[in-house]
Amino acid sequence: MKKLTLLGGLTPAQFFRDYWHKKPLLIRQAIPGLKPLLSRQALFALARQEDVESRLLTHFDQQYKLENGPIDTVPDIHQKNWTLLVQSVNLHNDAANALLRQFRFVPDARLDDLMISYATDTGGVGPHFDSYDVFLLQAHGRRHWRIGAQKDLTIIDGLPLKILRDFQPEEEFVLEPGDMLYLPPQYAHDGIALGECMTYSIGFRAPAYQELGEAFLQFMADSIDLPGKYTDPDLKPTARPAEISGAMLSRISAELIKVQFTEDDMALFLGGYLSEPKASVTFKPPVRSLSAEKFIQAAIKRGITLSRKTQMLYRGKHIFINGESFAAARADKATLDLLANSRALDGKEVASASLDVQEALHLWYTDGWLNLT
Ligand code: SIN
Ligand code: CO
Repeated sequence: MKKLTLLGGLTPAQFFRDYWHKKPLLIRQAIPGLKPLLSRQALFALARQEDVESRLLTHFDQQYKLENGPIDTVPDIHQKNWTLLVQSVNLHNDAANALLRQFRFVPDARLDDLMISYATDTGGVGPHFDSYDVFLLQAHGRRHWRIGAQKDLTIIDGLPLKILRDFQPEEEFVLEPGDMLYLPPQYAHDGIALGECMTYSIGFRAPAYQELGEAFLQFMADSIDLPGKYTDPDLKPTARPAEISGAMLSRISAELIKVQFTEDDMALFLGGYLSEPKASVTFKPPVRSLSAEKFIQAAIKRGITLSRKTQMLYRGKHIFINGESFAAARADKATLDLLANSRALDGKEVASASLDVQEALHLWYTDGWLNLT
């Protein structure tokens, strides 16, 4: 893979080997000349929307106050020390989506979202750590970061957000627009706005095993197949009628032990789980859907692009899109893998797709999962 300006001239392989999960990396001018993708007003408007996750944090009179969105009104922009955090802006804005996708040297299954934080002078979320890797990209104004690898991650009780009790910074930097700071999980940091500023956080997802295990068993509950029911033709009279007999337990255990999970079951579960849209996501079907025939004609001319909100993954023959899964015919796999990887097909690729694939494309178009390019 080639060297990326985004990674300060490292290849993704070098970045993963030396920094990912290991140590911070400051990249000056990761995106040279970066201008904010959304104006302050556009960001405030997003925070007012029901389907957008946002938080307002004020730190007035030494008191932290956290308000969950939708945020109808924000404090005066000339008032110091407040921050507006808007999650998953990539789902609502094409430019933010395109920026997030620049980080696709990390697999889609690990990429979470692009959060934008707006702060007035001295604003910030306080010294803290995150459980996930993060790239902090300065998009507007300047922010003063202090970071440290401390082991003591005790947080102060009783605050509406997680603030480290004893922050011990070891390094500090001022980030200008286009600069970016990578931090591994659990790395302590504190970013303070020097005047009005906006920072974009590129976040990752790492599902907890407990959560995966619970969801997997629920998924399997719908698909296990244990025919027959308990019988005991050899039943003997009992003097202890309240006791569950050893014979009953062994016979039932011998059946339940037949519940076995193959790697294919796990792949099916995982693809569905990881491609499931976030709770806040709704898809917008086209205002007037084209018929299948008209749609394919148009798609052959213009190509198609997956919606910003669509998560499409695959594993072997299994294709996953927005929580649904199906097995691709051998001949269709190349086209569907290409769609998932490039998030688009050009006209020629649509033209050479099988009827089954074209039908699926039309269905996904009517669901708002993809658009004509
Ligand atoms: C921020 O951008 O204000 C906070 C981001 C972070 O520290 O994770
Ligand atoms: Co953080």
